[in-house]
Amino acid sequence: MKVEIFENAEQIGIKVGSQLASAIRHNPKIVLGLATGASPIPTYDYLSKLCSVGELSFKDVTTFNLDEYCHLPREDKNSYYSFMNEHLFSKTDINPANIHFLNGNTDNDEKECERYNRMLVEAGLIDIQLLGIGTNGHIGFNEPAEKYTKGAFKIALTESTRKSNSIYFDENPMPTHALTMGIGNIMSAKKIIMIATGEKKQQAVKAMIEGEVTPKCPASILQFHPSVTVYLDKAAAALL
Ligand code: F6R
Repeated sequence: MKVEIFENAEQIGIKVGSQLASAIRHNPKIVLGLATGASPIPTYDYLSKLCSVGELSFKDVTTFNLDEYCHLPREDKNSYYSFMNEHLFSKTDINPANIHFLNGNTDNDEKECERYNRMLVEAGLIDIQLLGIGTNGHIGFNEPAEKYTKGAFKIALTESTRKSNSIYFDENPMPTHALTMGIGNIMSAKKIIMIATGEKKQQAVKAMIEGEVTPKCPASILQFHPSVTVYLDKAAAALL
């Protein structure tokens, strides 16, 4: 695991954004695994700016998002689909056919997860997976558990995740469940970029990098991946 520490979140956005931009230029048909949440926003801002001045194209890029809430309409401002549209997709020339999400409004979760697993394999797996970490060590919505999961699955969100994310839900109640890529899907990515910023992430970051590898801190499995870089600001890195 490579760890790089920056002064602030904006600097991480520039670093990760320029790295992704050169990866896209090098392989315009790249398959990206994307995360939502606060952590990747500066990166998406950086990429959006490059697209707006014509210096980068997403025309042939394929994306797979990590997760989506269950029973939240796709058009709801808090769906992860809306988040990605707002922060990235609407600012690029990406082909909508190349954007992939788990459908949290399916009436057959199992079939939907199988479909996603199959699509990932058909796309040739993820070249670069972008991740954030929950204060409880989750990645995607793989919450602390007794064992790791392989493929996509439905998860009941923990109290801690519901508390962290409820700040965004002022109109509708925060969903209780989500569909998420499994640890196996994430670990199949050829390269992983993890971003964590802010004091609230200190404990989780320490457990991920220096702790025992255990599904009780799902992100700790990244210690076993051959190509992971963790980008931290000083606050998130303070306990290392
Ligand atoms: C989001 C996701 C989550 C977040 C994590 C950190 O798609 O999969 O694992 O990356 O909860 O969220 P932020 O960045 O908001 O602190």
